[in-house]
Amino acid sequence: MNSKQNIVHMLMQEVERRYGIAPGDQVERRLVRIFKPMATADLVCWGRTLLSPDAAESEWLSLVECLTVHETYFNRDKELMAVLAAEILPRMFERKKLSGDLRLRIWSAGCSSGEETYNLAMVVLLAMKNAGCARECRDGSIVPLTGWNISVVGSDISSQMIRMARNGTYSTVKMGSFRTMDPLLWRFFDQLEDEGGANFEGRSMRVKSSISEITRFRQHNLLEPLPEEPFDLILCRNVLIYFDKYKATVQTHLCSSLAPGGTLVLGVTDTLLHRPALEPHHRGGVFWYVKPAAGGLQ
Ligand SMILES: C[S@@+](CC[C@H](N)C(=O)[O-])C[C@H]1O[C@@H](n2cnc3c(N)ncnc32)[C@H](O)[C@@H]1O
Repeated sequence: MNSKQNIVHMLMQEVERRYGIAPGDQVERRLVRIFKPMATADLVCWGRTLLSPDAAESEWLSLVECLTVHETYFNRDKELMAVLAAEILPRMFERKKLSGDLRLRIWSAGCSSGEETYNLAMVVLLAMKNAGCARECRDGSIVPLTGWNISVVGSDISSQMIRMARNGTYSTVKMGSFRTMDPLLWRFFDQLEDEGGANFEGRSMRVKSSISEITRFRQHNLLEPLPEEPFDLILCRNVLIYFDKYKATVQTHLCSSLAPGGTLVLGVTDTLLHRPALEPHHRGGVFWYVKPAAGGLQ
């Protein structure tokens, strides 16, 4: 191994130790592309500084930003959204009503630029309206009935993605974020003025305030527990596919963050390792896990 390959190897190991992303061909290719313009001596010097104990966390975060895949879009998994709307959420509303605690807390873990997080907020409001827990206003927005308190949190390691998510504005260019859009969700967007002209392509669509008011974003490394109150629903999708050794660590944190009776939804290819005391469920191709509620209420 030459000194350049050696540094790439050591950086990959450290990225995995800090952020869980497994070394692999894709990560290596990205690193090699980033380092291509650097002379070997400069790269070795820079790599050694980064690997030293007093390297700034921000330096690592900038590197990780370039190594991760941020692809995401609204209604990415239609089947899951349908099961949430028809089964998981209505059951959750019933449980909440029975318990008298009308706070509903949702976490989209590894949310990238926020589409999944906003999508969840939208699906929750639509399902609440169908369940008689929210009302439709004259302007078409949906607001929860008095007493309900809905909070949807999106988190990601990337500060760049969190900035985009907080902005809540998505372009229709090549339908990127909207490539598999559910037409029911357009009601939750405002079109920004003076953009795109008569063409739909090229417009900027901003999430309405009824959605952004119940949604917030924070930077967070999934290898660490999230210091927040427990959640009723957690989604962690298309994130753990890039993990290997640290999958179980992340899953343990996710399970600890679930409230009794709460639901965890992982990615299509993810299974729950070590199977803690969560009940597996599935409907068609959608799998989810429920933490038994105190007193057996579900
Ligand atoms: C492909 S996106 C998934 C977005 C969304 N969940 C979805 O399914 O559409 C994966 C995201 O995981 C984030 N990520 C990777 N490692 C992470 C870590 N250790 N902690 C938090 N987020 C991480 C990346 O920054 C990226 O934005």
